[in-house]
Amino acid sequence: MAYAVEVEQLSRRFGSVAAVDGLTFRIEPGEVFGVLGPNGAGKTTTVRLLNGVLAPSGGRAWVLGLDPAAHGCELRRRTGVLTETPSLYERLTARDNLHFFGALYGVAEADLPRRVDDLLALLGLSERANHKVGSFSKGMKQRLALARALLHQPDLLFLDEPTAGLDPEAARQVTAWIEQASRERGRTVFLCTHNLAEAQRLCHRVAVLDRGRLLAVGTAAELARTLWHGLWVDVDLRTRPPGALADSLRALPGVTELTLDEDRLAVQVEGEAVIPSVVATVVGQGGQVLRVNPRVYSLEEIYFRLQRERKEGAA
Ligand SMILES: Nc1ncnc2c1ncn2[C@@H]1O[C@H](COP(=O)(O)OP(=O)(O)OP(=O)(O)O)[C@@H](O)[C@H]1O
Ligand SMILES: [Mg+2]
Repeated sequence: MAYAVEVEQLSRRFGSVAAVDGLTFRIEPGEVFGVLGPNGAGKTTTVRLLNGVLAPSGGRAWVLGLDPAAHGCELRRRTGVLTETPSLYERLTARDNLHFFGALYGVAEADLPRRVDDLLALLGLSERANHKVGSFSKGMKQRLALARALLHQPDLLFLDEPTAGLDPEAARQVTAWIEQASRERGRTVFLCTHNLAEAQRLCHRVAVLDRGRLLAVGTAAELARTLWHGLWVDVDLRTRPPGALADSLRALPGVTELTLDEDRLAVQVEGEAVIPSVVATVVGQGGQVLRVNPRVYSLEEIYFRLQRERKEGAA
């Protein structure tokens, strides 16, 4: 199957700075792919390389099967981009901006007015459609820039920090629109963000960058499995269990570690299949089980653990 995006050892230097340093990853069509990493990690540079705005200093990239360095124009007709600082015409109205860019992206003249009106309505800008963009707040400009990115119904959407600087309500709305846009037409989304909760909600897989390098790539569950070996299971008990329980559990095949603190038991197991025998042992020894929760790590926990490991590795 053809990938929506495929990069191999992609690199870009600016003088002595390796902004993007040997990235290799693939994105399936229809995937929402998150790119995380601290300031200066190389996220925006990667977006610019994939859009053919910058040429790589090394490695290769294919976007919708095309080399962006050679086929930038053709690609821009099939991709939508929301850049870090959306440049809109401040002296034109919102509607005129969309008409201008729609014509530029080759949207058929007959379809354009309807599509512009639909997008203005979708993004809550109908009332301000005939106002000059110079009078818009940051959030309104961001929404208009998102409308522009969607105008020509692209197969692949690049969003560089789409909710940066938005109030919580506007950010949540934009997140919902991204979710909707990704479901339409099996669209692929490449999303750079510092908002880890947003990434957790939207992204199927994430890549974590640091100083141009890929620290990790995968689903949150895949990354958690590599960072915390084995699976931790929290078992809440109604009362403190008998002292011998800890030894019995340690003797069970597949149990690798445990902690017992009053009525909270945490057991590390090799996999889910071990959980029933843990519960049976606890109950068999008179433990009164209230809850059994396999631990799920948030993207935030994963992100900070990766950054810490990177720093410890560098030290
Ligand atoms: N045009 C440029 N000229 C010189 N250096 C650049 C240029 N663009 C980016 N860089 C450098 O490349 C590195 C990566 O920058 P980039 O903008 O890709 O980071 P980012 O991950 O998008 O960061 P942020 O989270 O702050 O947006 C930084 O060290 C930056 O200073
Ligand atoms: Mg950036």
